[in-house]
Amino acid sequence: MVIFSLENKLFFCNFELYLFKYKKMKKILAFGGSTSSTSINKQLATYASSQIANVETEVIDFNDYAAPIYSTDEEANGFPENLVALSEYMKQFDGYVVSLAEHNGSYAAAFKSILDWLSRINRSVFNDKPVLLMATSPGGRGGASVLSNASNYFPHAGASKVITFSFPSFFDNFKEDKVTNKELNDRLLEKIKEFENNI
Ligand SMILES: Cc1cc2nc3c(=O)[nH]c(=O)nc-3n(C[C@H](O)[C@H](O)[C@H](O)COP(=O)(O)O)c2cc1C
Repeated sequence: MVIFSLENKLFFCNFELYLFKYKKMKKILAFGGSTSSTSINKQLATYASSQIANVETEVIDFNDYAAPIYSTDEEANGFPENLVALSEYMKQFDGYVVSLAEHNGSYAAAFKSILDWLSRINRSVFNDKPVLLMATSPGGRGGASVLSNASNYFPHAGASKVITFSFPSFFDNFKEDKVTNKELNDRLLEKIKEFENNI
């Protein structure tokens, strides 16, 4: 039996009901901003989401959301059904873990197009929830340019908070699904703690 107070009234309920209503496990959606079948960003997003305490995590792959490249002409034909479904699906999550591929200093084209569609379906793409926003690349800058672009933009796409992390030289620092550089891993875990405190 659990006794709790709400608006100065006492309530009684069984423990299971209390846990269900008040301690419901948070849900996190993770993805890489890439359609590469070997995406290093999807690997990083998967790893980072696995380090978040006490959450349920879903990892999606944008290869499962093929759609025409966004244009106003395409939009005049209607929204792609799979992206309407994705937009709806995203509403159930309490936060998002995103790692963006950097192509020529910006978003990978496939991700940008999906983002454009999602922003037309629902202006608040991230549903007023926090985003752990990362980028990685094989080079030493760790996708710093796309990270900077996205950290400026994501608040306009409904991210209530954006926590950023750039992961440099992916192939030197990540092996067999784990971060192998302890200093980098410690810094990432600090960002993950900050994210946990915001969801
Ligand atoms: C067209 C193209 C442009 C790229 N431009 C950049 C770049 O501007 N900066 C960078 O760090 N890496 C760049 N790269 C390398 C990507 O970071 C690398 O392919 C990485 O694996 C992409 O992430 P993904 O594996 O998650 O798709 C580029 C790669 C391609 C194919």
